[in-house]
Amino acid sequence: MNIYKTLLIILVFGQLKAQTLKSLSPQDKYIGTIVNTNFFDNPLKNEKQYDSIIKSQFNGIVAENNYKMAILMPNQPKDPFHLTLKDINTGYLDKLANFGIQNKMIVRGHCLIWQNQVPQWLSILSKKWTSKQIYAFAKQYITLVVGYTKGKIQEWDVVNEGIDDRTAKLRANTWYNNVTNKQDFINQCFIYTRKADPKALLFYNDFSIEGFQEKEDSRNHFMLTMVKNMRNHKIPIDGVGLQCHLVNNQLEDGYIFSIGRTIDEISSIGLKCSITEFDIRICNNQNASSREQLEIQKQKYQKMILLLLGHKGVTGITFWGFTDKHSWIPNIMQNCGNAHIYDTNYNPKPAYEGVRESLKAIQRYTKQKPFLNSPIKIPGTIEFENYDYGSKGISFMDRDEINNGNFIDRKDPVDLIQESNGTIILGYTEAGEWLSYTINVATTGLYDFDILNCSAETNNAQIRIEIDGIRIAHSFTFIPNGSWSTYKNEIFHNIPLPKGIHTLKFYIEKGPVNLDKTKIHLSK
Ligand code: XIL
Repeated sequence: MNIYKTLLIILVFGQLKAQTLKSLSPQDKYIGTIVNTNFFDNPLKNEKQYDSIIKSQFNGIVAENNYKMAILMPNQPKDPFHLTLKDINTGYLDKLANFGIQNKMIVRGHCLIWQNQVPQWLSILSKKWTSKQIYAFAKQYITLVVGYTKGKIQEWDVVNEGIDDRTAKLRANTWYNNVTNKQDFINQCFIYTRKADPKALLFYNDFSIEGFQEKEDSRNHFMLTMVKNMRNHKIPIDGVGLQCHLVNNQLEDGYIFSIGRTIDEISSIGLKCSITEFDIRICNNQNASSREQLEIQKQKYQKMILLLLGHKGVTGITFWGFTDKHSWIPNIMQNCGNAHIYDTNYNPKPAYEGVRESLKAIQRYTKQKPFLNSPIKIPGTIEFENYDYGSKGISFMDRDEINNGNFIDRKDPVDLIQESNGTIILGYTEAGEWLSYTINVATTGLYDFDILNCSAETNNAQIRIEIDGIRIAHSFTFIPNGSWSTYKNEIFHNIPLPKGIHTLKFYIEKGPVNLDKTKIHLSK
């Protein structure tokens, strides 16, 4: 082979290698997939791609089924209140954990306490157990499983799907239904898990909790309230797993946006987020493999990845299946399928390209840098249009892709309006949008924010202030003054700021509100 040919091959190969999903993933995040560890020892006939795609594309894994109780402990143990390693299939635990370590992957443990896929003997016996006995059994089980894999699992789903589908409260009709206080039971399960493996991150995981909802009787609201209370009571929870099983032609931009809002809320409680079971299925004979549907699917995958993996608060994303060849969807969801990024022949679908394009976009923009490269000095004045350089999800959030204003110098979709006197105003704001600024605070203290030239039109608008992603004060309200172009000033008092370089986020909880600048000075 001549040298040019060799060079060309190296070049092309290097290029291909460099472009796998994991190589494009943001450094502090993983891109994972479910695996069926039964396929490891016994490679599927003519399906060598199963292994090779997992190894080349992903740096995170979770067992689709083999870490579930029904599979780890199918037979009734001699004494459910004194479990030993003989009672569980440790082989399944080893297979996944060791594969993860060998291939330098993040390993998720899914899941410890769940109402589904429990052994039959447990469903029967637990009906007669007292509350105390259920706690005792759960403690034994968690301590044994989590203790056995200690140090090998980075994220555990401690409790899965605890919220009821219909009532949006804690679930009834589970094997642990006899406990006298369900919330306390959930709390204790986190405590048992932390004790068994202090370094693993512990998650509450559920479906249809990802879209932000104002409604108090919604699953989302229940989840947010629950995890906030858990944090306040010092229960060792580290994060929330948003499953994100989604439907292609129902998934609207507004919903994707509202998932970002949920992640914002979870971050400001001080918890992490993980996208744990991501798939986008095509349903109802939408001619699932038609170009049109696959193109729509590509766009949805693309937007989800851009918004979610671009978010500071997310540890990683796990695809609940990477190939349509081995998918849980057709078995469980009628008339649905084709949910994943590779087709049944292991060829990448348009959705795969969509994911890759977004990963590249995130790579280009991830760094948040101060406007004009120097942090804004506090005490001092922040012009709202001087938000940090970066991208959507990194230095700002805007709901759409269009700048609805007439000031387009920044080439971002942030809606900036230039008034005839030259002043630049931030307008068209909506709940969930935000802007972030790098600031340099001279002294720790309480500060007043004089919001100069603002207008709230007809509704009570509301913002909150976050420092380094943590909510630092209650929400502030703007009293409406009827028209967006009649400006006035509002003063927000006593906002605590720490000395040094930080990011300051103005987070719109309720819009619209129009903003020009804020003078920040020590409170009297
Ligand atoms: C699913 C598996 O993919 C299927 O193979 C199995 O038959 C049923 O469970 N939410 C969860 C996952 O938390 O554990 C489920 O996995 C999908 C829904």
